[in-house]
Amino acid sequence: MNAQNYAQENKERFRSELHELLKIPSVSTDADYAGEMRRAADWLVNHFEGIGLSTEIIDIDEQHPMVYAEYMGAGEDAKTVLIYGHYDVQPAVIEDGWDTDPFEPVEKDGKIWARGATDDKGQFFIHVKAVEALLKNDALDANVKFIIEGEEEAGSTAIAKFVQEQGHRLNADVCVISDTSMSDIEQPVIVNGLRGGAVCEITVIGPRQDMHSGMYGGTIHNPLQALAEILAQLHDPDGSVAVAGFYDDVLELTEDERKEINVIEWDNISWSEDTGATVPWGEDEYTLLERIGARPTLEITGMAGGYHGDGFKSIIPHKATAKIMCRLVANQNPQDILDKIEKHIKRITPPTVKVELIKHRGIGASLIPTDTPAIQAAIRAYEKGWGTKPIFKREGGSIPIVAAFQQLLKLPVILMGFGLSTDNLHGPNEHFSIEMFHKGIETSIHFLQDIANLQTETVEEVK
Ligand code: BES
Ligand code: MN
Ligand code: MN
Repeated sequence: MNAQNYAQENKERFRSELHELLKIPSVSTDADYAGEMRRAADWLVNHFEGIGLSTEIIDIDEQHPMVYAEYMGAGEDAKTVLIYGHYDVQPAVIEDGWDTDPFEPVEKDGKIWARGATDDKGQFFIHVKAVEALLKNDALDANVKFIIEGEEEAGSTAIAKFVQEQGHRLNADVCVISDTSMSDIEQPVIVNGLRGGAVCEITVIGPRQDMHSGMYGGTIHNPLQALAEILAQLHDPDGSVAVAGFYDDVLELTEDERKEINVIEWDNISWSEDTGATVPWGEDEYTLLERIGARPTLEITGMAGGYHGDGFKSIIPHKATAKIMCRLVANQNPQDILDKIEKHIKRITPPTVKVELIKHRGIGASLIPTDTPAIQAAIRAYEKGWGTKPIFKREGGSIPIVAAFQQLLKLPVILMGFGLSTDNLHGPNEHFSIEMFHKGIETSIHFLQDIANLQTETVEEVK
């Protein structure tokens, strides 16, 4: 028996184990679920131990635990692979529009339906099963470290502190992450860019309290109106962000990079099918994929203020707020961007209202060079798993810890995502293709074997 046969023969068991993990509602952003987070971490510890890895729960401050597991049996001279994933999931309740209970996984139409199925439990579990298959067949010739965190959906602050203070524990020759997606089951994709982010909240304050709109209307600048006026000045009519200096550090795309990004076909019609929106908006001198992969954005993600109950209330509200999230690209500094937004907002705020801005933590973006030996090993693994060469894609989403892995730990990161862009991650009816799950395990086995066999000379280059 070899590792691939073992994976074939244990398919059903692998999936029923994944179901167990999917049943635990490990929602990191809601304090009510802290116990479930711990339960998910304990489940993982047990599972890793069952496979034969030494395992540890890592607690940082009062935050959700991380699970660390390692196999160092390949020896000091062997290569080491770090596998990152996250066991926390987005909130989900059946009322959001799910056809079945989000925490009672079901298999239907070739898919596993559950919250976290693709983001990210089903995806990182691929590597857990690949490592098991190799270990059980005495075929694991690389050392493996797993770090599975519980706060990715909440901004990854605990792991960021861990990497800063004890980063050496994650030293490796290469880091693999499966937490991204491809657009088509036939065409594997390696993601070579992730966007970063920066978040802030703006509050516009008018009168001391809600005021009678008849007694004072026409004399007070309505805070909701003032907020709308301010927000309307954050973009220019051509769709670009109006904040002074916003694009200063953005790297312009070379002709070759533009070609590489636009290999994937995604026209206005497929865009419309994917989104349900009418026609695209944005910087029209860039293609849709360029805008998502290589251009920064400023989005208003929420607005609140005034009266929302039944009927009408004749008031001028005391205040109005909005939440803003920027998606940033490589080379932009999130803190610098927040400072620029603050300056811009101060400049355009009328004297009739006061404005408060709360700047939250930012996330750096990542670009991944595609000519490293580690990526070449990933390409070979996909060719074996799929029979097709993978293409590269710059993704618009963020995985906050990737920039720290690259910059602080100098790790070459490979984003080997096995999701599909139609998996509904973060939305109702999230699912993961059963075929992708098993193809992923097959590919991960090839990858771990290939990395283990890389020549020692090339390891230096890998680093
Ligand atoms: N797995 C996603 C990132 C992702 C999304 C990659 C889509 C590729 C395509 C990750 O779990 C995620 O949701 N990230 C958040 C991070 C944020 C909460 C700090 C994101 O991008 O919004
Ligand atoms: Mn994810
Ligand atoms: Mn997510």
